[in-house]
Amino acid sequence: MTSQSTRKTILIVDDEMVIRDVLEDFLSSEGYDVVTVSNGHSALNELESDHYDAVLSDLMMPEMTGLELIAEINNRGYKIITIIMTGYGTIETAVAAMKSGAFDYILKPFKMDEVLSVLDRSFERLRLQQENVNLKETLNLYRISETIAKSREVDSIFGTILDATEIETDADYILLYLGDRSMDGFSGLQRFSARVKEQKETIKINVDGLSSILTDDGVFLENDEIKQYFNDLPTVLIPRSLCCVPLKVPGGHLGFLLVVSFTRKIFFREGHRKFLSILGSRAATSYENARLFSELKDTNNELTEANRTIKENFRQTIVGFARAIEQNDPYTRGHSDRVAVFSRLIAEQLDLPLSFVEDITFAGQLHDIGKIGISSQKLNKTGKLNAPEIRMFRKHPEMGKRILEPIPFMRHLISGVYCHHEKYDGTGYPQGLAGDEIPLMGRIIAVADTYDAMTSDRSYRKALNREVAIHELEINSGTQFDPDIVRAFLVALEKSGIEDFNDDGL
Ligand SMILES: [Fe+2]
Repeated sequence: MTSQSTRKTILIVDDEMVIRDVLEDFLSSEGYDVVTVSNGHSALNELESDHYDAVLSDLMMPEMTGLELIAEINNRGYKIITIIMTGYGTIETAVAAMKSGAFDYILKPFKMDEVLSVLDRSFERLRLQQENVNLKETLNLYRISETIAKSREVDSIFGTILDATEIETDADYILLYLGDRSMDGFSGLQRFSARVKEQKETIKINVDGLSSILTDDGVFLENDEIKQYFNDLPTVLIPRSLCCVPLKVPGGHLGFLLVVSFTRKIFFREGHRKFLSILGSRAATSYENARLFSELKDTNNELTEANRTIKENFRQTIVGFARAIEQNDPYTRGHSDRVAVFSRLIAEQLDLPLSFVEDITFAGQLHDIGKIGISSQKLNKTGKLNAPEIRMFRKHPEMGKRILEPIPFMRHLISGVYCHHEKYDGTGYPQGLAGDEIPLMGRIIAVADTYDAMTSDRSYRKALNREVAIHELEINSGTQFDPDIVRAFLVALEKSGIEDFNDDGL
């Protein structure tokens, strides 16, 4: 970890006092804080107790050589610059120094300018390395965040979090704990490294203890006194480092993300703390979003169901009205239901889509709903209608259209209601449309309606028998009716086996 202060601290390690003094005087005058020691062991003690930015070490020293010192520094994971000073200026020495992990080397006897230039170069290299690491971490975090943000599935979000935590921290134990705010029975996920997998059954975290010390900002990183966070632990496992971050959501936290190292050389550092903190925050938000999304879906399903029920009730009410118009008239009772059946037969015979078959059945039931405004005496009049009565009667398609227009989920039925008195040759009403100008629903209902009217008793005449009615359809095919529809109807009627409907037949 580099110092936040602009003054850099350098540890000089040399068994020759003269060299130590010269370097101390010179580097101090150049603005460095300098500490000197005479051997490798003292150097390691210094590094353990204090922070240094660089170590300048002699190569040949009693007890511990410079190369051995650098190897141990790297082994302990100190992120500092190490430079070897050697009087044995051969390529082999330099190669050995670099191999042991040194940043650079200085040949004795040295000029002071060379020392400064090697130090400057090393610090610049360290800065670039650090920038590179930061950039890599930021990129990783960005990729992970993107993956999490795109997911609506809780399992997938948590899988990504655990994978990323495993890769970035190399922890022995990872726990993603969700406490009692669990969803679908989920309360936590654990991961164990290969190093501790044999003891995994006996690692018991003190969840309550951890939960109680987590506050909203309560990220904590511990490298001492970690045992208190365990309820049970095998004696072979000594916890070395622990980092715990809360999964923050508005109004509290869901649980926490915990990493533990039982491995001597693996300690979590500030970078891990920051990484886990961001990951935890992202996990909590995504979890909340996924939960809200799931709730929203449930609510939406309930609304859809409620809407479906309302539509169905409304449909039944409208059909009830249509039937009510016929109820007072023994001659037309059941007419709309029969027209619905015939229309359905035709649509099925024409291989029309199921949705159209359903729609035309419904439209058949409603085709005369516009008669709701015509008095029953006029509807059931035995004699011929006079001119004003005919005009009024002919308004029923228009009336039907007006009744259905304000109802959004019935508007698509209007063409069947409005156009069922149009004639194929253009002599019908209300618009006088001809041929294919007449919507298909209108052309189908026209055939079904006329056939049923002919085969039912009416107040002004007796029912025609089936053969006569069929003959009437045939001779008016191409003039009053669409010939394709007449053909389809006659085939469908034959196939259906329907002989005759009585008044209560439907
Ligand atoms: Fe009609």
